Amino acid sequence: MRTVFVLNGPNLSRLGSREPDVYGTASLDELQRACAATAAELGLLVDFRQTDDEAELLAWVHEAADRRVPIVLNPAAFTHYSYGLRDALAMRTAPLVEVHLSNPAAREAFRHTSVVAGVADGTVAGFGFDSYRLALRAIAGLLPAEG
Ligand code: DQA
Repeated sequence: MRTVFVLNGPNLSRLGSREPDVYGTASLDELQRACAATAAELGLLVDFRQTDDEAELLAWVHEAADRRVPIVLNPAAFTHYSYGLRDALAMRTAPLVEVHLSNPAAREAFRHTSVVAGVADGTVAGFGFDSYRLALRAIAGLLPAEG
């Protein structure tokens, strides 16, 4: 079964209690379970991770490049300013979909820029957990059929 990394950046461990009006009341554990369920429907295996540490996130992106693992990535605040993350993602060797729970384009001006979007296959934003479900479907569609 093909593995997909679902990587989550800073503060996403706080889902459920973090600005629930923006991000909802469900936890990161619930998000992990939702991703695993969708992945199973698609014949994929999810390796779900979260970090507040930019260096750790970059190491995971490097690992994905070395192992040719596709990525669903919520870079959280790193989205808006981390050129280091963008450069790491530019080395990718498999599909990449950027996701956001909220719709950054409808929020503060600093969220309107994504330094990641230009190296991703696409972006899904604004649909809560469904952003991740849709991203996993997009990844499945981008992968060559196994045979
Ligand atoms: C976010 C949007 C970002 O602007 C913010 O910094 C986050 C979460 C989202 O999923 O909606 O931490 O990536």
